[in-house]
Formats: sequence, structure tokens, C-alpha cells
Amino acid sequence: MTTEQSPTLDNLLTESRSFPPSPEFAAAANATADWYTEADADREAFWAKQAERLHWDTKWTQVLDWSNAPFAKWFVGGKLNVAYNCVDRHVEAGHGDQVAIHWVGEPGDTRDITYAQLKDEVSKAANGLLSLGVTAGDRVAIQLQMIPEAIVSMLACARIGALHSVVFGGFSPSALRQRVDDADAKVVITSDGQYRRGKAAPMKANVDEALDGAQSVEKVIVVRRTGDDLEGDVPWSDGRDIWWHELIDAQSADHKPEAFDSEHPLYILYTSGTTGKPKGILHTSGGYLTQAAYTHNAVFDHKPGQDVYWCTADIGWVTGHSYIVYGPLANRATQVVYEGTPNTPHEGRHWEIIQKYKVSIYYTAPTLIRTFMKWGAEIPAKYDLSSLRLLGSVGEPINPEAWMWFRENIGGGNCPIVDTWWQTETGAIMISPLPGVTHAKPGSAQRPLPGVSAKVVDDTATEVGNGGGGYLVLDKPWPSMLRGIWGDDERFKDTYWSRFAEQGFYFAGDGAKYDNDGDIWLLGRVDDVMNVSGHRISTTEVESALVSHPTVAEAAVVGASDPTTGQGIVAFVILRGDAAKAGDEAIQELRNHVAKEIGPIAKPRQIMVVPELPKTRSGKIMRRLLRDVAENREVGDVTTLADSTVMDQISKGLSSGS
Ligand code: WT7
Repeated sequence: MTTEQSPTLDNLLTESRSFPPSPEFAAAANATADWYTEADADREAFWAKQAERLHWDTKWTQVLDWSNAPFAKWFVGGKLNVAYNCVDRHVEAGHGDQVAIHWVGEPGDTRDITYAQLKDEVSKAANGLLSLGVTAGDRVAIQLQMIPEAIVSMLACARIGALHSVVFGGFSPSALRQRVDDADAKVVITSDGQYRRGKAAPMKANVDEALDGAQSVEKVIVVRRTGDDLEGDVPWSDGRDIWWHELIDAQSADHKPEAFDSEHPLYILYTSGTTGKPKGILHTSGGYLTQAAYTHNAVFDHKPGQDVYWCTADIGWVTGHSYIVYGPLANRATQVVYEGTPNTPHEGRHWEIIQKYKVSIYYTAPTLIRTFMKWGAEIPAKYDLSSLRLLGSVGEPINPEAWMWFRENIGGGNCPIVDTWWQTETGAIMISPLPGVTHAKPGSAQRPLPGVSAKVVDDTATEVGNGGGGYLVLDKPWPSMLRGIWGDDERFKDTYWSRFAEQGFYFAGDGAKYDNDGDIWLLGRVDDVMNVSGHRISTTEVESALVSHPTVAEAAVVGASDPTTGQGIVAFVILRGDAAKAGDEAIQELRNHVAKEIGPIAKPRQIMVVPELPKTRSGKIMRRLLRDVAENREVGDVTTLADSTVMDQISKGLSSGS
């Protein structure tokens, strides 16, 4: 299987640096080394102890029910309200005046929201949703940029037991529609427009396009952000659309949270799989919040009332769910939430924000770190970053060079770095160094957290030895694991549990290896899923978008390694008849077409027009060979091709400049 791995990852094999925590950090760390032994001795007792971090209205009677595997039940019989745990209980404990959110708008406007204010906002929004007839179990779709109302909306849903389905703001109308229909969302929450790189872009107009004829949607709540209506040009559908400030501001701030079953669904979040149809990953309440809170405390060494925490993810991804909303708020964090892009209005924006709010914990993605590297170390050097004491990375393997740059130029050479491996499906961090305990290695996520079990196995499900590579599996259930794919139990079993069905392992879809110390190094996806700037995009989804264009006869898409984005999307297309002589303009149009169909994040970096595609005798496209072309490598073994001359035809066509 290693032949499928990108060769740029080979440099991981020679990385041997290791950085122990400073004695001061270790002495004050939340986590200790004995957590590993404690959890190994009695996993369920360990998780039960972690669940005590939360307020339960009714205590559970059983920690784990795995009798109907792979459908897990955690903290069976327990009842809790997730929003109460994230907001009210901190106010009741006397921390109402603590800032929960330092919000920074892209144009420079700011808002500080205390826990007491957050409680009022969430209660009002909960009452507002109830007034529209939303009840427990209903689905609410949310397409919002990074504004406080996004967080308030999610918590308001949780408070009344409705499931939110957050759709990333950059997704196209058809992507939104697909998700709204799949979940039968009753209400959609959005905004008039959003600021992007200094300009206001419409949002509501896209939502209207998406919802044209949508059967399930009764109401659309619109947050006023850019003030498009004041210009008189926000499209409006009377009877369906309602302004947030008219609906929510008028509500009472009194709302009594109801305790829901530990397994009550909390949210659906769609993610790309190997087919064109996104999967609605389902998460539930008690186990999810337990692991989100535990990992936020242990992995980020978070100290409530002292730290200022900043996770740079967008609320549209799982990182935003678990490490902006649920984990940090359950742990009474004070956090920064930033609306805009990192280079608006200048490339020092993040460092300026860290300096201003004295951010102590900063959690970001390798693609952004590499972008900062490109912009130059002299930019962060102009700011006082001495408040930072811990750095985190997520989304894709971090190359040792970026890790070292992060450590030296942002962390001042003395902050532990946690490289956290997890997925939308796992709900929370699974593999990561423990700060204060682990001797960190640049580029390795290292060990499963206490309470978590992961292994690297070969095709026969046998664990490989030190130095060996294979597939990453999770061999024991964990509290924040997905409970299924919305409306599709078969696909759930098929996708994750069929590959190693006999052993009952969860198949993560990632390649990994052990080094000589038994530490885990993640090597990227082993399926047809690309990772572009930490975003998961399926090759099939992009291929379907391409062939939906009238000029395209056939398309094959691969993720080619990219110095900034990790992988870049490279498409090979066969054009129809006359279109085959297409010039640059036609290629541009195809790129834009994909952006329009899925969203700008899916726009191919490069499109190559080819006469044929390499296929096996059974008709499967051999992406491995196309990846060789896309990465300018000598083309590998072609013996399994139905027509072995295809690769020659492709190379010849490309070198002659088409
Ligand atoms: C896939 C999950 C988890 C939140 C962000 C992405 C890759 C994620 C790492 C890491 C190596 C990583 C994997 C995984 N991935 N974190 N620290 N090292 N790879 O969530 O969209 O569900 O994607 O991202 O390939 O399977 P996601």
C-alpha cells in the first residue's frame, strides 16, 4: 500500500528530533503520564471519570453499551442539557462576568461577550426557535460566517434538543440544498452577507437560490451583518423569511433547559466520502461532550479563567464544532473568534490579535502555517507573541519543516506543539501528544490519548511492528464516536466497519506507520478522498461536477502534493468533439464551473485535457498513474491497464502543449 503514498512524506522516515516539555510546563500540566496506565487498567472507569466533568441531571447506569455494535451507546440512562453545560452552569458558579468570546470582525469591529450575556443570547434564540414551532429532534440548517450568532444558533438548537446541521459558508447553493434536503431541515439560519477580504459578499441570495422549491423549509432566519437590506437589495420571501433581530431580540431571556437523554442526537455534519454524495455524520450528546471537554482540557492544557484560547477553524467544520463551541465552552474558556481571512487587511492580522488579547493557546492548520512561512518570518517578528504557551495543529499531516518553523517563529522556541489527529467521524481528538508529558517529534501525532485505542495494521488486520506501515484503525469504541450516517445505516456499516468486520475495527481511511519507538506517523488518505488545505474533498464529487458541464465527456481527479495546501486538485478531462481543441478560456470556465457546483474550495488547481484516461480491465480509473503525471514523476507500473499505451498518449499530448 505504500506505493499509494506521496513520496514527499518519505522525509518523515528520517526525522529524529525530539523535544521534551520544559520542567515548568510539566509541573503545572493538566495531564500526567499515569493517565495512560489508569485508562489501560480500566477504560470505562476512566471515561466515567471524564464524564464527571459535566453536569448530569440524571446519572448514567451503564458507561458503554456495545451490544449492538457498531451502534454505540455511552452513559446509558444519563440525562443532561449540552447548552446548560456550556453556558448556564458557569454563570451559576459565579463566572457570569468572564468573557466567553472576544469576537473580532473582519472590518475591525469587535464584541466581547461574557458568559452571562451568552446565556441570555442563547436563551432568547432558543425561545425564538420554539416560537417558530421547532421542537426536539427537528433539524435546523445553519449557513453563517464566523459571527457570534453562529455559536448562539448552535447552542440554541442544543438547548431545545433540535439538531443543527452547519453548512460551511463557502459551499455553493446546490451543496446547501443537498444537505437541507437530506436532513429535511425545517429552519435555515443565515445572514444577509459576509465580509471576505475586505468586501461584502451576498449570502442570503445564495441561500434563496438553494432553497427554491425546497419542501422541508418553513422559515429562514436572517442575521443582519453587512446591512444589505439598508441598501434595499436583500432578496426577501414574505412569510418565510424573518430577521434575527426582529425574532430573537424580542424574546425573553428566560428559558429553562430540559435534560435530554445522553444519546439524544446533537448534530449532523456532512463530510465527503468516496462517492459523490456527502455523508451526514451523526453525533449525540453525553459521550460527545465528555470527550470534547476532556480532550480540550488535556491536549490544550486549558486553564479556565487564565488562558485565552484561539482555534482558527471555521464553524462549518468539525474543528469549529468541537474546539470552538462544545469543548472550550464546556470548559469555561475565554476565546478569540475571528470573522475574516488571515491577510485582511494585512498579513500580520493573526499576530496582531494574539498580541491584543494575549492569546495563550493557538490551534491552527498546517496549510495556514505554510502560508505564514511563505509570507515571511519577519511579519510575526513584529508582534509580541510572548503570551503564547501552547500551539496546536490539525487537519493534515504537518511536515517537519512547518512544525519547526511554527515552533521557532510563533512559539518562541519553547511552546509544546500538539499535532492532533482526528476526523469528523471521531468527533474529538484521538491521537496527539500530551503536553507536559510527551517528548514531541516534529511531524508525528505520536500516541492515542489515554482512553483511546488505535493501531496500525496490514491487509490481514495484523498489527505491524515498529518501523512498519499500514492502515490506521480504531480498535475500541470511544465516547464521541459517530453514531451513524443520517438516514443510511448500511452506508455507515459499509464505509467504516466492513473492511475489518471480523475484528470489529473502525477503518479510518488513513495510512500510518510506527517509528522505532512505536509512535504513530500519519501518512494521508488511502482512499479517493483528497485533503486540500485540511478540507476533505472526494475525487468523485469533483469528477461529477466536471462531467455536469456540457463540454466534458469524462473526467478523473487526483490530489497532487502541493507545497502550501497539502494537496491540490488536478483534473484530467476528455472533452467532447469540437471542444477538444479548447484553449485557456475554456479551462478557466471549467474551473469556475466546479467552484459554482461545489464551492471555491473544490476549484481544481489545474485541468489537463487528455485523449484517454488510464483504466484497468474492469474500468476502474488508475489514479495512481495520473498522480505520477500531476506530480511530474516517472509514471509507475502500467501492466494492469486495459490499454497500456494510454499513458504514452497522455504524456505526448501534454508535452505538445494541449
Ligand atoms: C482527515 C479528517 C479533524 C478535523 C479536521 C479534518 C486528516 C486530520 C490530521 C493530523 C494527519 C490528519 C486525516 C483524517 N487529518 N488531522 N493531525 N495528521 N492527518 O477533519 O475533514 O473529517 O478530515 O483529515 O486524513 O482522516 P475531516
